[in-house]
Amino acid sequence: MKGTFPINKFSELRTPFYYYDTKVLRDTLSCIRTEASKYDNYSVHYAVKANANPKVLTIIRENGLGADCVSGGEIRAAIKAGFPSGKIVFAGVGKADWEINLGLDYDIFCFNVESVPELEVINGLAAAKGKVANVAFRINPNVGAHTHANITTGLAENKFGISMQDMDHVIDVAGEMNNVKFIGLHFHIGSQILDMGDFVALCNRVNELQDKLEARRIRIEHINVGGGLGIDYAHPNRQAIPDFKKYFIAYDEHLKLRSYQTLHFELGRSVVGQCGSLISRVLYVKQGTNKQFAILDAGMTDLIRPALYQAFHKIENITSDAPMQTYDVVGPICESSDVFGKAIDLNGVKRGDLIALRSAGAYGEIMASGYNCRELPQGYTSEELV
Ligand code: LLP
Repeated sequence: MKGTFPINKFSELRTPFYYYDTKVLRDTLSCIRTEASKYDNYSVHYAVKANANPKVLTIIRENGLGADCVSGGEIRAAIKAGFPSGKIVFAGVGKADWEINLGLDYDIFCFNVESVPELEVINGLAAAKGKVANVAFRINPNVGAHTHANITTGLAENKFGISMQDMDHVIDVAGEMNNVKFIGLHFHIGSQILDMGDFVALCNRVNELQDKLEARRIRIEHINVGGGLGIDYAHPNRQAIPDFKKYFIAYDEHLKLRSYQTLHFELGRSVVGQCGSLISRVLYVKQGTNKQFAILDAGMTDLIRPALYQAFHKIENITSDAPMQTYDVVGPICESSDVFGKAIDLNGVKRGDLIALRSAGAYGEIMASGYNCRELPQGYTSEELV
């Protein structure tokens, strides 16, 4: 066993695969529980989009988090993992009728609505079933986040949410409908946010909107501020568990929550990011004109983040203590962007060595594709491999 990896077990498995260290996951969840429970009215959900591996979902459910879903498939995955339907919220800018019907059939807690046409459809489908659906409006707060442009969501130019100017109108429209009940506001400004100032900016905007609503004597019981807390991708050398304490304190100090309100969070990456690694085998070491390549059996189809967002994942040779050498670490896919890292220092690599791409628990396995007719990677937990 090198570091925290059961190498002996790994050698029996077909690579590439995802490995989830459940101790890291459980420690992270326990930290979330401890920090959130310091506040009477904080409710934490897990954003299923980050990782819907059934074993991972089950552990998260056992720790009492709700489920934030963005598709019918995610609602099914959450139900299958045992999340109570009363703790499921359904968000997303384009909900299909069958997905809304699925949510209605399960009597989920709330639909986070992003437009008037969507509200009309939910009202109609709920009426057909003789039900009343709880709805919250996702407001686009026009707050920027200091993160990659592809994962910022709260700017006016983004497709997400209802604009602040339209908020009053949407609330009035909902008030005239019989089969929806307006219960709250929903926000989400982006992902991989490490600057608490971005969340403070969101709090200030929420306070402004709440004052406006109160002036109209509109009372809302639920505020959902989305997710977005980032992780330290330099792990394992640095911080494994994100700073949930600092995160919740930012909201406690800056958001003027009323005593009758519940504050909801939808955390994805910060819950599962650090527990996962993509484990892959070196196929070939190839000498190029002026550099050497370590060619892995994992590619961008297994972990697309480096190709899509130029994301950094720490790379380690977990089966070698040979002196360090420098490699471009690449996959087998027929795309030049199939690169995990350039000029990476690794313990000397040879065919068959196992390579770990760290901090890959979030938006890793779930974003895998079958391009090049590749098989999807399997996911194993440390509890299965003892
Ligand atoms: N709530 C909403 C409405 C969201 O859109 C998201 C993420 C979350 C919660 C969870 O955010 P988190 O806590 O994970 O930051 N594939 C990209 C990330 C896309 C995030 C999309 N929305 C990546 O690999 O970086």
